[in-house]
Amino acid sequence: MNMERLLLLGLSMLVACSQALSLDQCDQALGMESGEIADSQLTVSSSFSDHIVGAHSARIRTEHRGGAWCPLQAITDQVHEYLQIDLGQVTVITAAETQGRFGNGRGMEWAERYELEYWRPGWDAETGWRTYRNVSGHTRLDGNVNSYMAAKTPLDPPLLAAKVRLVPRSSHPRTVCLRAELYGCRYTGTEYGARWGKGAYGTGLEHARKGVRTYMSTKVHTS
Ligand SMILES: *[C@@H]1O[C@H](CO)[C@@H](O)[C@H](O)[C@H]1NC(C)=O
Repeated sequence: MNMERLLLLGLSMLVACSQALSLDQCDQALGMESGEIADSQLTVSSSFSDHIVGAHSARIRTEHRGGAWCPLQAITDQVHEYLQIDLGQVTVITAAETQGRFGNGRGMEWAERYELEYWRPGWDAETGWRTYRNVSGHTRLDGNVNSYMAAKTPLDPPLLAAKVRLVPRSSHPRTVCLRAELYGCRYTGTEYGARWGKGAYGTGLEHARKGVRTYMSTKVHTS
């Protein structure tokens, strides 16, 4: 291996490592619980009652009015109801967390499973939404098992999106309510830039992770 290639490899490793580091620290609650995400950034496809169980009640670990967002229809795999969170800018999302409707003990609704749909600037506002798929190819994320325990699911690969929809799913018709939080960090466009995938699906970050592994093993084998 010539000197130039070695230098290039070292440089790539450095870049790859700093990417991995910044991703490890990318786990801040994005503001559903704290209110940093404002009510005006939340929309829902429908609700059983906007006043009681509308978007404003969808904040995790809070008991606001009815205690969660509850869509009008019973949820099946065909029904498309969603809670939409507009993050205002492209954001790295590394985990999603849901909770059912506790409603001070009266609630008994939760989502057993849900999907994440996401949107980025430049995509069609109506038809451009895509469904998140994890590294194993699954779209359904595990939701809740009761009305009170929150369940947090890491996203591998992380998701880059400006808007996210939580879409409850159920194989049998089921009344669902949910509260949510998203975790991640601001996307600056530089820390992952070098390995940013341009593919239709590519989140870029998965490429970054593969890059780290590849460069690490290359180093071990060639040194
Ligand atoms: C992908 O999603 C499935 C279904 O939710 C889950 O069982 C699996 O562990 C996930 N894989 C990863 C790598 O997160």
